[in-house]
Amino acid sequence: MNALNKKTVEDIDVSGKRVLVRCDFNVPLKDGEITNDKRIVAALPTIEYLIEQGAKVILCSHLGRPKGEYKSEFSLAPVAKRLSQYLNREVQLADDENVVGENAKAIAASLENSQVMLLQNVRFRKEETKNEESFSKELASLADIFVNDAFGTAHRAHCSTTGVAAYLPAVCGYLIQKEITFMGTALQNPKRPLVAILGGAKVSDKIGVITNLLDKCDTLIIGGGMAYTFMKSLGYNIGTSLLEEEQVEAAGQMMKDAKAKGVKFIIPVDNKIGREYDENTEAKIVDSDNIPDGWMGLDIGPKTQQLFADAIKGAATIIWNGPMGVSEWDNFAAGTIAVAKAVAETGAVSIVGGGDSVAAVTKLGFSDKMSHISTGGGASLEFLEGKELPGIAALADKD
Ligand code: 3PG
Repeated sequence: MNALNKKTVEDIDVSGKRVLVRCDFNVPLKDGEITNDKRIVAALPTIEYLIEQGAKVILCSHLGRPKGEYKSEFSLAPVAKRLSQYLNREVQLADDENVVGENAKAIAASLENSQVMLLQNVRFRKEETKNEESFSKELASLADIFVNDAFGTAHRAHCSTTGVAAYLPAVCGYLIQKEITFMGTALQNPKRPLVAILGGAKVSDKIGVITNLLDKCDTLIIGGGMAYTFMKSLGYNIGTSLLEEEQVEAAGQMMKDAKAKGVKFIIPVDNKIGREYDENTEAKIVDSDNIPDGWMGLDIGPKTQQLFADAIKGAATIIWNGPMGVSEWDNFAAGTIAVAKAVAETGAVSIVGGGDSVAAVTKLGFSDKMSHISTGGGASLEFLEGKELPGIAALADKD
């Protein structure tokens, strides 16, 4: 599959047609209020284009994991409200417990050009996550065209992301197009040097990404909790730092592979360590080969910040996934801040993915300095692993 070769919403005539648009409106909620609406904002360009073109727009999404039953706390009502505000027009929610019910059918049938409706949470139907034909057909029966714009859910083969594409002409929206253009180009044809920065807690979550990137990048930087498993593979004492014992061998092998492939592989040379996993724990800076027993690494140290910043400085393309330390704690956020600053200061194409690193970049106020911030967590990781995403594979190729 060449994800860059998919038909887009501009390659099909949508005027006057009923267009079912799969978005990823899986937004965080607290007491029924949306606490971060970035995914809604990211969906607007496609919706606005369809409105301008005079399509009859039928939006759908999942929210959370209601496990196949109607649960009011997973209702898309807050999303319909927020969308109405952004689009400056009513977005009617078809509040059917079975999603494609009497309300959905009636509203879809009576939609006029440029009107917008939203179906209820597709995961209220147990068939959705099993990609069962029956529900895919019900969804398809509402529309003439399917547009998938849910990049964050493109790694799921569900009725509303994949199944429905078998019954309707299926193209991608602007968000998926943007995501695959940035990430696909970075993987297939990057401006070099390509520097990948990987952080986060677990090596096991990133093995696929590291393996894929070792064949593509010039420099690979490892930070975050997973760096300690790499240090262990070098025989360092890592105290009580996070360790995946069963990945030590794989970590060592990855470092050897990097050498054989001529990829510069950089791990932290010093660390900010703490006594306990606690925001206010006693802390100090030590070299990586000198972590005492009873202490744990919670962030990269100042020498590492400089080392990483120097490697980032020369990049033409940067892929960053995962924080460098416990970045949600002010005392252990300096490493992630330093990397964010270094990335922001380069003129490189910079792509940030993964929930935690995106949250860190946003909280630190660097979002507008990045070329692209992915809306996908699991989806962007799988894309970086080189996996085919079913929600994209199901769409029509350009002629
Ligand atoms: C996400 O938040 O990563 C996507 O919306 C997918 O959600 P899921 O992990 O529940 O499938």
